[in-house]
Amino acid sequence: MSVSALFELLWKDYTARLCPSAHKIRALFESQGKLVNDHIALRTFDLPKVNIDKLVAPFLALGYQPKGHYRFEDKKLIAQHFEHPNPLAPKVFISALELRSFSAPVQQIITECVEAFDAQQSNWFGPKKWPLSYEQYKILQAETEYGAWVAAHGFGANHFTLYVNEFSQLTEIALVNEHLKANGFTVNASGGEIKGTPEIFLEQSSTMADKLTVDFDDVQAVIPAGFYEFAKRYLGPNGAMFSGFVVESADKIFESTSQSG
Ligand code: NI
Repeated sequence: MSVSALFELLWKDYTARLCPSAHKIRALFESQGKLVNDHIALRTFDLPKVNIDKLVAPFLALGYQPKGHYRFEDKKLIAQHFEHPNPLAPKVFISALELRSFSAPVQQIITECVEAFDAQQSNWFGPKKWPLSYEQYKILQAETEYGAWVAAHGFGANHFTLYVNEFSQLTEIALVNEHLKANGFTVNASGGEIKGTPEIFLEQSSTMADKLTVDFDDVQAVIPAGFYEFAKRYLGPNGAMFSGFVVESADKIFESTSQSG
């Protein structure tokens, strides 16, 4: 599989079941010229069977290399980002929930999900491949919105990200946000609508997640799914375009999938 084929597969899965509004959002920026995908984000658990090392395998096979490491104390997540030698290939940001930091019921539900997962299958992306009741989802959600998200949706792109540096007119994140709101989309305002500053070399914003119907074992329920993100990068201290991520900003971006949003 080529890099572009893998991202095509992820885009199809993302737009089909996680963020159908991505088509409309993308169309809002088509007049801005070439649309470049800065990065995608994937979410998982830190259990050996499905951890970051496992989820990144198809990307490493295509030449991706490990870059930054991150830690989110409050949300009890670790993360890494990966880059391809071809700078036009999207970066890949993968986070994982530190299971041991949660209560016994949460650990048990997630462990059972992962035990039921067939890690031998060639394509991990798509709707969750384990049993989960709505009641179990609510137990997870009370302690970790992130854990509930992965359990309910399985593996897939949590967001795609348009690279604002390439836009012809809407060259500031603030202009992007105004354009989104003028067209009826809600911008994640947790910690302010713009996460980051030029001084830390990265500014980001995102829509709030689409709320979609998911099949649980017992019922269907409408829950937060995927969102679209925007990134503007600045030259870093070494004179090259900053290609990493910033913990304080990403921390608030995670809240784009909170139920209360
Ligand atoms: Ni992101």
